[in-house]
Amino acid sequence: MDTRFVTRRGFIRTVAGGTLGGMALYAFPEGSRAKYVVAGNREISPDDEQVWDVVRQQFPLQHEPIYLNNGTMGPSPYVVIDAVRAEMERVDRTGQYGGWEQVRPKIARFINADPEEVSLTHNVTEGINVVASGLPLKRGDEVILTTHEHAGNALPWLARARRDGIVLKVFTPGQTAAETLTRIEDICSPRTRVIAIPHVTCTTGHILPGKEISALGRQKGIWVMLDAAHTPGMVPLDVRDLGCDFLASCGHKWMMGPKGTGFLFVRKEMVETVEPVWVGGGSDAGWDLVKGTLTYRADAHRFDFASQSAALYTGLGAAIDFLHQIGMQNVANRGRALAGWIRRELSELGDRVEILTPEEEGGYASILGFRVRSCPFDRLHALLLETHRIITRMVPENGVNCNRVSTHIYNSTDDAARLVDAIKRVA
Ligand SMILES: Cc1ncc(COP(=O)(O)O)c(C=O)c1O
Repeated sequence: MDTRFVTRRGFIRTVAGGTLGGMALYAFPEGSRAKYVVAGNREISPDDEQVWDVVRQQFPLQHEPIYLNNGTMGPSPYVVIDAVRAEMERVDRTGQYGGWEQVRPKIARFINADPEEVSLTHNVTEGINVVASGLPLKRGDEVILTTHEHAGNALPWLARARRDGIVLKVFTPGQTAAETLTRIEDICSPRTRVIAIPHVTCTTGHILPGKEISALGRQKGIWVMLDAAHTPGMVPLDVRDLGCDFLASCGHKWMMGPKGTGFLFVRKEMVETVEPVWVGGGSDAGWDLVKGTLTYRADAHRFDFASQSAALYTGLGAAIDFLHQIGMQNVANRGRALAGWIRRELSELGDRVEILTPEEEGGYASILGFRVRSCPFDRLHALLLETHRIITRMVPENGVNCNRVSTHIYNSTDDAARLVDAIKRVA
């Protein structure tokens, strides 16, 4: 194994025994733009900048402006981009365009589901639409959502309310898991049929107690659907442990996969409950137009159909491999450590900065939501971009009106320090 690597700052180092910070360094094949990957089931310290610097080199992402908006879109590493390109070339060379199916089991393993429980979608919203449109709900049935929804989880339910007269009830998550559970219980009624909430809010990165909420739903006979746009790739995700009925997510945020990939988990026992609304080739286990018969597949594949992109799903498979090589817990620790460091620095500004992301252990990870009292959120967003060259996200949703930063494995402590410095100047 070639054990030299070039750091971002240009040093050429030889790593004894091909390891760095206790992790094995594997060279990629000749011709690959991704030189190395740090790999192994070893713990990487979240502040071992040497290791994270090597990880950073696996991304083509430019250094300026600084990117702190993974919550909107996760830049892919070279291995993902190269896998997409190679698969596109294979398809276009051979004329054999299938292949997306092969990635379903890998996605399933990544979230601890069975492949039969995974439907391949193109984004989070598509999965939510499958559930919101397909559940058997009648006029007056109630669905519980939060005041922190993304349009992707608000519109499908609003549309269902408009079509079928279901009633949407919203609550604001509490600062603790216990408070959140109480607020949900308080608005549950005998008409409540669904709790459809974010697992991690897009506004402040608040991790809601998905496991306890799922248990509450089970106990009351209420279906639980988690909008998990931000969970996989940010923190380890285990749908079996969560116990939810449905979970919708995508490959293009924290998993850093190709844009336009997604998946929907439908618990095995729930497949028959959801009426497939959009169907086509692949949804069925046999049909006859003359006899007027149609049998759906017995599993969650019935919710996806027709041609998909083998290249994009192959890329998502490569993204999963990449996350596994670094170790999902290492990934989670690094993102959380950077966001935590920003939080501590901003807290030093006292009441000039209001931090919105709850502090309870387990209630936050790699997203931080905050307001700077002296500067409206939209102005701060523009200032950060135009003056300080930092990409963040402003959050106008539901009048939350805050600023949001996301930190992932390609971010450095320098990126975090630049942000803190900029906010200190403004505040
Ligand atoms: C919580 C949440 N739900 C849903 C979505 C919509 O995602 P997609 O564009 O993949 O449908 C987002 C996107 O940012 C989100 O943050």
